[in-house]
Amino acid sequence: MKISKRLQAIDSLVTKDYQHIWDCCCDHGQLGMTLLKRGAAKQLHFVDIVPSIMAQLRSTLQQQFPMHQQWRVHNLDVLDLPIDADAIEQPQLIIIAGVGGEQSLTMVEHLLGKFSEHNLEFLLCPLRHQYKLRSALQRLPLQLHNELLIKENKWFYEIIHLVKHSDDPAAIVSPIQARGSLMWRDATALQHKYLRQTIGHYQRMLKNTKASIAERSEIQQTLADYVELQQSLNS
Ligand SMILES: C[S@@+](CC[C@H](N)C(=O)[O-])C[C@H]1O[C@@H](n2cnc3c(N)ncnc32)[C@H](O)[C@@H]1O
Repeated sequence: MKISKRLQAIDSLVTKDYQHIWDCCCDHGQLGMTLLKRGAAKQLHFVDIVPSIMAQLRSTLQQQFPMHQQWRVHNLDVLDLPIDADAIEQPQLIIIAGVGGEQSLTMVEHLLGKFSEHNLEFLLCPLRHQYKLRSALQRLPLQLHNELLIKENKWFYEIIHLVKHSDDPAAIVSPIQARGSLMWRDATALQHKYLRQTIGHYQRMLKNTKASIAERSEIQQTLADYVELQQSLNS
C-alpha cells in the first residue's frame, strides 16, 4: 500500500510503543493500517463518523489483518472516543489528521477534559488555522514533543506531536509556540518559502475591509509574529 508523503511523515513521528493508538478521522484507514503493519501499538483503533467508510474498512481489515485482537473499528464521533476509564497509566496516542484546526482543537480540548488523568499524547496534522490552534493549545496542559513541516504537491503541512505536562526531567519537550518552533530549526528553502507564503496570506487578510477591529488586531499580531520569525531566520 502506497501512502502519501504527509501520512508517511506522520507515521515517522510514531517512535515509541503505545498500548493504544487511535487513528481518528481515519477515512480509509491508510495511516492506521501502516501503523498496524509495523506493530506500533498493542491495539490500533480506527475511528470515523461515516458508517459506509467504516463498514468497508472493517471488511478490508478482516481480510488483511486476521489477528482481530490487534485492531478495532469505531463508527463514532471522535468526541465519544471509548477510552477505558481505568487505563490511566497506559500510553495512548491520539492522531487527528486531515480536519480543520478549529475542529482539531475542539477534539483535543474535549478529550483532555474528559480523560484528564490519562497518559495521552496527540499527533495533529490540521488543515488551516494552525496559528489559532497552537495559540489555544498553549493554554492546555500540553507540551511540544516534536514538529515537522512537509510539502506534498503544492501544499504545505504542519505536523505537531504533543504530550501531557510531565515532571520527568528526561522528557524531551518544549513549550508550545503559536507560530511553531521545532519545524523552523535549521530552516531550508522549504521553511523560507512556507513563511513567505504564510506572511502573504496574513497581509492579504489585512486588506479585507470586512474584518472587524478585533479580527484585524488578531491578524496584525499574527502577522507581526511571523515577520519577526522571518527576521530571526534571516539574521
Ligand atoms: C479528509 S479525511 C482525513 C483522512 C486521514 N486522517 C488523513 O489525514 O488523510 C477526514 C475524515 O474525518 C472524518 N470526520 C470528520 N469529523 C469527524 C468526527 N467528528 N468524528 C469522526 N470522524 C470525523 C470524515 O468522515 C472524514 O473521513
